Amino acid sequence: MTTQQITLETMTFAHLRDALELSRHVGWPHRREDWELMQSLSQGVVVQEEGRVVGTILMTPYGDDAASVNMVIVDAAMRGRGLGRKLMEEALAKAGGRTCYLVATQEGLALYEKLGFVATGKIVQYQGLAPSVDAPAHVSWGKDGDHARLVALDRAAFGHDRSALMRSLRERAKFAVVRDEGNVQAFAAIRRFGRGLVIGPVVGRKLHEARCLIDFLLADSAGEFVRIDTNESTALGEWLTRRGLAHVGGGITMRRTADEPKVEIRSHQTYALVSQALG
Ligand SMILES: CC(C)(COP(=O)(O)OP(=O)(O)OC[C@H]1O[C@@H](n2cnc3c(N)ncnc32)[C@H](O)[C@@H]1OP(=O)(O)O)[C@@H](O)C(=O)NCCC(=O)NCCS
Repeated sequence: MTTQQITLETMTFAHLRDALELSRHVGWPHRREDWELMQSLSQGVVVQEEGRVVGTILMTPYGDDAASVNMVIVDAAMRGRGLGRKLMEEALAKAGGRTCYLVATQEGLALYEKLGFVATGKIVQYQGLAPSVDAPAHVSWGKDGDHARLVALDRAAFGHDRSALMRSLRERAKFAVVRDEGNVQAFAAIRRFGRGLVIGPVVGRKLHEARCLIDFLLADSAGEFVRIDTNESTALGEWLTRRGLAHVGGGITMRRTADEPKVEIRSHQTYALVSQALG
């Protein structure tokens, strides 16, 4: 697109400094490293005005059938001119026939609805200083050989292949696991993100298992700033409040799909997100 000095370009590493400025301006906590992780997994587009980045979007593919659309930002001074819609159209074109997921802010909601996204639920964000709790004895740290199993469990819970994301997390995160007869049956990751640490994904068979995994990671991080994003439907929220973490916001989960989604019975559930951007 070319309208006067406004151009659309493929996002590269070189745009990340400006992209970071934009996300800071809208009050998001991402560090440079957080943008690097997302950009390395995604196809991105930037809007530039006279060489300055004034808009961003990422389409993060999960296999051939799904994608997350994220980091949708237009500089406050440039809003209301169709740039948000243009960025979304570019991202959706890159996603092709994939089912697209996103977590919407109130500001983005109307745009996404117009583009065929439907609201499916609510994400609630909790954060604060990790309390001192006892580490449950049946939870332990993961081992190198667990990786393939963790990818499989994430897929069982999320419903799509996130092996590229899981490979990146392997380098950045620590993993807590629950084993039954030697086999990993549930796990949770913790890594640096934003203002401190983030716990997610948390993948398990039942709520109690998710709580034990989170307690294990809280015990290891006592006194540090920790964030957890969870779907309201998991019912983790009230318990997180009792753990001293405050509910500070959230977003609306949305999906855009060509076909009616299949109703699946899953063996595992995602109790906490990698991030609002990545699901
Ligand atoms: C969301 C955001 C990217 C939109 O950018 P933008 O450039 O202003 O978007 P556009 O000008 O393309 O407008 C998008 C559409 O939403 C519509 N719209 C915007 N606010 C609306 C509202 N309150 N009610 C109804 N429609 C609304 C516009 O009319 C437009 O529709 P049209 O394309 O049919 O004309 C921008 O507001 C932003 O960066 N917000 C801060 C970061 C953020 O919250 N991002 C979303 C993360 S999920």
